[in-house]
Amino acid sequence: MKLLITGGAGYIGSHIVWQAQQAGHECVAIDNLSTGVPGRVDCEVVKIDLAAEAAVEQLEKLLARGFDAVIHLAARKQVGESVEKPELYFKDNIGGLANLLIAMRNTNTKKLVFSSSAATYGMPNQDSVSEDDDAKPINPYGQTKLVGEWMVANAKQWGLKAVSLRYFNVAGTGKAGLADTAALNLIPIAIGQLRRGEVPVVFGNDYPTPDGSCIRDYVHVTDLANAHLAAVEYLARAAQPFDVFNIGSGCGASVIEVLDELRAVSGIDFQYKISERRAGDPPRLVANVSRMKEVLGISTSHSLRDIVESAWNL
Ligand code: WQD
Repeated sequence: MKLLITGGAGYIGSHIVWQAQQAGHECVAIDNLSTGVPGRVDCEVVKIDLAAEAAVEQLEKLLARGFDAVIHLAARKQVGESVEKPELYFKDNIGGLANLLIAMRNTNTKKLVFSSSAATYGMPNQDSVSEDDDAKPINPYGQTKLVGEWMVANAKQWGLKAVSLRYFNVAGTGKAGLADTAALNLIPIAIGQLRRGEVPVVFGNDYPTPDGSCIRDYVHVTDLANAHLAAVEYLARAAQPFDVFNIGSGCGASVIEVLDELRAVSGIDFQYKISERRAGDPPRLVANVSRMKEVLGISTSHSLRDIVESAWNL
């Protein structure tokens, strides 16, 4: 199939391009190159800022080539920044998606995989969250992802078929050169600290969890990329115009457990520091992955050790 991947020169996008090409698909990437690197991918990269005035015309021209599906990743994704600059997040994440949907409608491009997030759940109480649990985002980033799902669902009006993938905590590296260089999340932050001779910091160890640190659901970026290809296949057979899937391992790991894995794979016998809690952190955020398994027909295949080892070594 011919796939258009927005954010395709980014950390996750470049893994999707790589794995899609391995599966025989033809890819074109769109990226505004704010964090994306064209050299990460072996495909055409078209520089477009999706939120810009000219984006609809640029997108229509590109989509007129004819694509079987669009995979939309391009968005701002820093929770902290979204709290400081909410307008920027709504402009880019919502405005960019609106321009994409207008261009897709005008070119009769009718299949979309939308990159959403576990941040849509906010502070759930459940041991593991399911897609039909309440989505109550607690920061503008998560709000833009939930509103984005509504926008995509509404597009059934003109025949769009779409799925929203709620990413849990993506980490690891599939091949050299595709590592997460943005260092905005626990594992790349801790690796950067070790490489600089510093020690990782645990943001609070007084949570109601076994070791007191927050629990998250870590998913290898190659498993996430595979989920996008499964989602594209699913769209060809889906009976309903819109669906939502958690993409995670279904297993929880605490910050301290992640750092213990990093100590093992790095061979550096570091002692982490404990700091105050970070505002907005839920104690536990783990996916119920039954729909991913039963409907998309996939599950993750990498352990926490695989994730941390690949992030450290590649
Ligand atoms: C994980 C845990 C921190 C750094 C966010 C988004 C989510 C998704 C992934 C896009 C937390 C703790 C972190 C550090 C620490 N992004 N931590 N020391 O906040 O779970 O999820 O990124 O979709 O939508 O919300 O990820 O990696 O920032 O934090 O103790 O130096 O690690 O407090 O408990 P998070 P994270």
